Amino acid sequence: MSDLHLLPQDSFAPVRAGVVGAGYVGLTTGACLAHLGHHVVCADIDEERVERLRRGEIPIVEEGLAEVVAEGLSSGRLTFEVGAAAAAADADVVFLCVPTPQGADGGADLRYIEAAAAQIAPVLKAGALVVNKSTVPVGSTRAVEDVLERPDVAVVSNPEFLREGTAVYDFLNPDRVVIGADDRSAGERLGDMYAGLNAPVIITDPASAETIKYAANGFLAMKISFVNAIAAMCEAVGANVDDVVEGIGADRRIGKAFLKPGPGWGGSCFPKDSRALVKIAADYGYDFTMMKGVIDVNDEQRRRMVAKVRAALGAEPGLGLRSRVVGVLGLTYKPGTDDLRASPSVAIVEALVAAGATVQAYDPTVAVGRLPAELDGFTLAADPYGAAAGAEVLVVATEWPEFAVLDLDKVAGLMADPRAIVDTRNLLDPAAVRAAGLSYDGVGRRAERPRHE
Ligand code: UDX
Ligand code: UDX
Repeated sequence: MSDLHLLPQDSFAPVRAGVVGAGYVGLTTGACLAHLGHHVVCADIDEERVERLRRGEIPIVEEGLAEVVAEGLSSGRLTFEVGAAAAAADADVVFLCVPTPQGADGGADLRYIEAAAAQIAPVLKAGALVVNKSTVPVGSTRAVEDVLERPDVAVVSNPEFLREGTAVYDFLNPDRVVIGADDRSAGERLGDMYAGLNAPVIITDPASAETIKYAANGFLAMKISFVNAIAAMCEAVGANVDDVVEGIGADRRIGKAFLKPGPGWGGSCFPKDSRALVKIAADYGYDFTMMKGVIDVNDEQRRRMVAKVRAALGAEPGLGLRSRVVGVLGLTYKPGTDDLRASPSVAIVEALVAAGATVQAYDPTVAVGRLPAELDGFTLAADPYGAAAGAEVLVVATEWPEFAVLDLDKVAGLMADPRAIVDTRNLLDPAAVRAAGLSYDGVGRRAERPRHE
């Protein structure tokens, strides 16, 4: 991570910052701001999390995070405290990074952000800046102002675009910094904090900044749903999605990014933000049918993956899968993270378990005996081969790199007939899988002939 050594510019002025919420977004933000030279107090409601962070123990899997946290702790520029007020008391700029989960009506639930605002209101210094980094419905910058009731404090929106797994890299190498501020000087003040980054700063009004965040996630989710729909079409017409993506991705107007077919998008952002986008639009009288279609394609994609497993098992439609054994490789919603939120892999496992199948799963971030409480009904294997042992079908559900280099002969020897691989991530080479005596089904890949034959 050579970018970690990026140094502040000459014009750089360190700021006393507070960060409320030490999760994926808050902890990355706090540690990276300290790396840039700011003095950061990072607070969380969870006392145990704070205790661990003070010892430099990182509660999540995130590449490079341990290094920036350790650097911040040893330089004294990064400290951890319990409770939002502790982050705000001495800060000139306070970043709100608490969760905004999906509420019952599909919109974002603002209770944590409002609670955080209420807690910092009495202790904020005069002239402080409050920065909303959590993803919130359009208009929420105003909602924070209303809770604060501090006319001497400016509230600005500063959406994050961090991908889990590469969050530290993304923070330090952003394509752009987006700031929404009614008062331009408040926006510029925040922009100056990012002076150490080589990125354009786009300052706009709060509603536009909030919309940028939803539009970016909605557009990326749309690209993935589009390619998943094209993959379904490829299967129907006998085309190969790998070649189709190469062919369209070479067009610079389209680009290759976010065109990887798979079991559908998951994680803590796309599912909730795509639904929130539909809800916000509806609240303002616009029926966002295209986004609804994007979500429908994604839901359908998970069902298609389960149907592929059933087909590989030769199961009659509608019949249960009792006494059928399925191995599943990967539980996280993507590699490089330990996050299981809205994971397509988990959805596939749950559907197979509900149909009565015996499921044995392996994920490098989920230790045997440490299955999260909300997951039940299947066993965890100690390694990928344990998931394959005795399985009739082996599903590649998350594209962890270690699954790409499995000893396929060993896998074939461990599995039971019909010895089928369902590769929901198009991770494996179909020809190599077939050469090992296994059958292969990917997503949108032509049934028999391998690519470029
Ligand atoms: C969250 C939101 O989900 C996302 O929409 C937003 O863009 C940024 O914040 P994330 O950082 O992934 O994303 O959430 P999570 O990893 O769950 O971390 C939230 C942290 O806030 C947790 O450590 C939690 O203990 C803490 N928290 C929560 C508080 O400190 N105070 C609260 O009131 C609630
Ligand atoms: C996303 C956005 O990328 C980030 O900018 C925003 O701040 C938070 O939401 P994240 O959820 O961490 O980040 O993961 P991302 O890498 O975007 O992947 C999201 C989902 O889409 C995953 O389930 C992934 O497997 C899937 N995906 C991604 C595909 O199926 N195909 C692709 O080509 C890319």
